[in-house]
Amino acid sequence: MKSYHDVVGDEGSRVLEQVAEKQSRITEGHAKVRHLVAVGSGKGGVGKSTLTLHLAGTLRARGLRVAILDADFNGPSQARMAGVEGALFVPGSRKVALPRTKNGIAVFSMGSLIPESEALEFESAAQGESHTWRATKEFSLLGEILESFEWGALDLLMFDLPPGAERTVQFADFLGPRTSFVLVTIPSEVARGVVARSVAALSKGPNRLLGYVENMSGYYCRDCDAIKPLFVSVEPPAMEIPCLGIVPFDPELAQHCDRGTPLAELSETPVGRALEHVAQQLLDSLEPTMEPSR
Ligand SMILES: Nc1ncnc2c1ncn2[C@@H]1O[C@H](COP(=O)(O)OP(=O)(O)OP(=O)(O)O)[C@@H](O)[C@H]1O
Ligand SMILES: [Mg+2]
Repeated sequence: MKSYHDVVGDEGSRVLEQVAEKQSRITEGHAKVRHLVAVGSGKGGVGKSTLTLHLAGTLRARGLRVAILDADFNGPSQARMAGVEGALFVPGSRKVALPRTKNGIAVFSMGSLIPESEALEFESAAQGESHTWRATKEFSLLGEILESFEWGALDLLMFDLPPGAERTVQFADFLGPRTSFVLVTIPSEVARGVVARSVAALSKGPNRLLGYVENMSGYYCRDCDAIKPLFVSVEPPAMEIPCLGIVPFDPELAQHCDRGTPLAELSETPVGRALEHVAQQLLDSLEPTMEPSR
């Protein structure tokens, strides 16, 4: 079977032109963004969305202009977690305004456009091709979101990626080499194994791997103000990229994510301190001299 790159004269389908066209729309869509950061893993349920939202909050509190694009189109979490709804068609503007959190983070999430009782469908002319079709459609949708919504000038645009090692690599292709990656794992050998595989796969591409965050590392007991072991795993992480920080499990954080009231008062908690550390590491590796622009 031929890949896109093997096609020489594609018999009028213009596949290559269409891909190049989409790629340039994506590039135009993020032209005014200083840094593109994708939060991925490969593994599901490890806290990518939670960390994206709260890391964005930590960066915003430092005065940086931050937005989130929830790229998990069929399993969106950000609308509910961030407590945002809808999208506003601004009269006279070609672009659609994005809803913002109370602290001013613009969020795109399919969850604010489609009710949770409905699935996003990528219909295919031939169901046998639906897998290929889906990837092409997701790619196209990503371009449209970047092009149609009002992102404005940003210091950071954070992509909350869907689970799956294969899809993480696919998104790296979609997003292009300007996008740097932060990978999230938890202290379980299974999760670390999957994330190590994502590291291996992404290392072959042009994207920068800024490092990984180990989430749910210990359980923060608020009553006793102490971190207790959560996973039995004792093996130290064997990742070949820098560790940007270690974040404990805080039940209050989970509750706030479910309620759509992202925790703003994190600074005095272990999660807050951990996120401050991750934010600092992230900025140091992206642009150490980045000044808040507000
Ligand atoms: N450090 C944490 N403390 C408390 N709860 C957390 C923490 N990290 C994640 N959670 C909770 O764990 C659950 C899974 O987190 P989340 O949805 O962010 O994972 P994910 O990696 O984005 O999942 P998916 O792969 O489905 O996109 C959520 O209920 C979230 O509130
Ligand atoms: Mg998620």
